[in-house]
Amino acid sequence: MAKNIAIVGATGAVGLEFLSVLEKRDFPVGDLKLLASPRSAGKELTFRGKKYKVEALTKDSFQEIDIALFSAGSSISKEYAQHAINAGAVVVDNSSAFRMDKDVPLVVPEINPEAAKNHNGIIANPNCSTIIMLMAVYPIHQKYPVSRIIVSTYQAASGAGMAAMQELEEGTRAILDGKPFTPKVLPHVAAFNVFSHNSAIDETGYNQEERKMVYETWKILEDDTIKISATCVRVPVLRAHSESIHLGFRDKTPSEEEARELLSSFPGVQVVDDREHSHFPMPIEASGQFDCFVGRIRKDIAEPEKEMELFVAGDQLLKGAALNAVQIAELLL
Ligand code: A2P
Repeated sequence: MAKNIAIVGATGAVGLEFLSVLEKRDFPVGDLKLLASPRSAGKELTFRGKKYKVEALTKDSFQEIDIALFSAGSSISKEYAQHAINAGAVVVDNSSAFRMDKDVPLVVPEINPEAAKNHNGIIANPNCSTIIMLMAVYPIHQKYPVSRIIVSTYQAASGAGMAAMQELEEGTRAILDGKPFTPKVLPHVAAFNVFSHNSAIDETGYNQEERKMVYETWKILEDDTIKISATCVRVPVLRAHSESIHLGFRDKTPSEEEARELLSSFPGVQVVDDREHSHFPMPIEASGQFDCFVGRIRKDIAEPEKEMELFVAGDQLLKGAALNAVQIAELLL
């Protein structure tokens, strides 16, 4: 049965990926409504060979809509999600607006699909770094429960939206041309640089992205005893986040071979772990891919009996956002 779909933020980096993922996964789309700011009203986007006009988002945009995919930032979700629900739609929200609300499921379909059943009109899509980390951790955790995760991210510009991706390109060009460049979207020059994730830092010294990785993981895995420490930074990569992950285990520790087997048999994960040719997960290869790539699978040299290291790369715009949200929408079919 086809569903009428609205995309809020259709002109954005994630919004455009919604269209291509719906198309690639053969999602049964009935009517399609593309919504963005008044700046984009009248702009045309193509879906399955047909042109659709973008409309300015209003509270009346959701008549006859079954599923509304939101990706226009938290404040838009907070302002408009209820209008979509009132019109009878289920909201799949890519923002952080509702993720930690008790009555809002936070879903990675390969991990906790059953949670989606208990929604009250909104299902939240987790933070991109959290999803990509869990795609690498959960296949092992299922059989060998982890008690400790230490993660460092290498996050692409795409996580800060299309304007940040353009800023990385323009900054790179300017620096190569020896011209001055002042960033407007990101807090620091992204080109040829690495800086702490551009979200607010609280009194603990952790930024919001780092805290999301902790609290969202606890909610998705329904286990707040796992000790998680994150360091989140931006690197000059256009799209696809990478993460170095250190795992400590509660009881038994898998062998490298077992870990590789658990990962390679998990849907949405590919093991890329070629030591001979030093070929491991790279954002450039993960870009545009639905699967997350996991490699550098090794026992921790300091604690080989208890701890393990991994490296993951996953497309932030796809598994970290649009793909995961469309997979959630598929659970509603
Ligand atoms: P627009 O392109 O008209 O500004 P990104 O994450 O790549 O920055 O994209 C953000 C998305 O959110 C875009 O589609 C953008 O539309 C949309 N957006 C931003 N502000 C509003 C708004 N006030 N109402 C509706 N959509 C908005």
